[in-house]
Amino acid sequence: MIKSLRGMNDILNDDEYKRFTYFIKSATDTAQKYGFHFIETPILEETALFKRSVGESSDIVGKEMYQFTDKGDNDVCLRPEGTAGVVRAFVQNKLDRAGGIHRYFYHGAMFRYERPQKGRLRQFHQFGVESFGVESVYEDATMIMMVADILNGLGIGYRLQLNSLGCKECMPPYRNNLVNFIQSVEDEICEDCKRRKEINPIRVLDCKNEKCQSLYENAPKLIHSLCESCKNDFERLKKILNINNISYEIDTNLVRGLDYYSKTAFEFVSDNIGSQSAIAGGGRYDRLVEFLDGRPTPAVGFAMGIERLMELIKMPEESRDGYYLGAMDDEAVELIISLTQQKRKSSKATCEYRARNLKAHLKNADKANAQYCCIIGSNEMNNQTIWIKDLENKTEETISLKEFQ
Ligand code: HAM
Repeated sequence: MIKSLRGMNDILNDDEYKRFTYFIKSATDTAQKYGFHFIETPILEETALFKRSVGESSDIVGKEMYQFTDKGDNDVCLRPEGTAGVVRAFVQNKLDRAGGIHRYFYHGAMFRYERPQKGRLRQFHQFGVESFGVESVYEDATMIMMVADILNGLGIGYRLQLNSLGCKECMPPYRNNLVNFIQSVEDEICEDCKRRKEINPIRVLDCKNEKCQSLYENAPKLIHSLCESCKNDFERLKKILNINNISYEIDTNLVRGLDYYSKTAFEFVSDNIGSQSAIAGGGRYDRLVEFLDGRPTPAVGFAMGIERLMELIKMPEESRDGYYLGAMDDEAVELIISLTQQKRKSSKATCEYRARNLKAHLKNADKANAQYCCIIGSNEMNNQTIWIKDLENKTEETISLKEFQ
């Protein structure tokens, strides 16, 4: 038997489908309320796009890409995340030259060759948002408020972790300090950290190895060496969040797994889904448009992991809806089919093609979550009537077919 690949799941039951579509709908509604527009980019892109944006030092590019050479000899890969593709589209369509503000949202499948476990898939889905052209940190605050709104609307609790990764002024001197520190403990750190030190030293702070973590407790913190501008922005961000009652924790080790960030970095985590607890992550990436050959354009965004959120969504109570139609005799089946077809013009309507007894029909109607169970047998055929039970209000009546239509 051929099975799906490891870490790649089907959505095949109604409950999962409902959770998935309910999430997309409420996140879309919120993004539109904030003035964002839909964008769709291809799932397959040139590998170079992710090397230049997500970065060669990241685990995503270094170890996790579904990369191959296509029949035209192009080096391509399945997108591991959505930001790079949106930036590529933004530059390719010359929107960087148009100036002004451009705000987008998207959702779709992403692919990372990670070790699958609960909450960690190789094919997963993200809902993401990207904003171009706003330098002000108020846009960063707006992003965070949007995530909070989406989560609150779905009844999902969270903790927000915040950090600032500095800018091209304050990051380089900090990086030198950090490298000096790493050198002082180099004999004791893991092989991955030795590699990170060479390519992107701040990524060591994010190492999951316990020994490394305890060594880095004494590492210099970027938050203490921010330049005036980054410091002011970070203070303003915290102020706006305080005013809007969004609580946060400062996490000086939050560096994010992608290389394109500067200044604000944030992650929303849940304590109710096990070790893969990040449900949304994002931040500012003011230099990425330029790295991808566009005009320098400030930008900020986030993405949410839909599969992780699906576990946490509190679904609204579903009320009964529409019609179930059934025949008690074979002669009534064709009539039932055409009545169902008529009802579908304005309501949800399902029917059973086989004649059944009343008990079986009532059971089917209940399973279909219909409000009305409508039955035609030989009596009803003769009298041109239909028997209806309202499964919500527990009432029954027989009405003429004319009235029913
Ligand atoms: P990310 O933190 O890599 O950021 O991913 C965002 C979210 O996707 C995570 O918080 C998590 O919920 C979900 N996720 C990531 N990997 C997996 C996986 N293997 N299985 C299930 N869920 C997963 C980004 O992707 C950035 N592009 C976000 C961004 C947009 N930054 C600026 N704009």
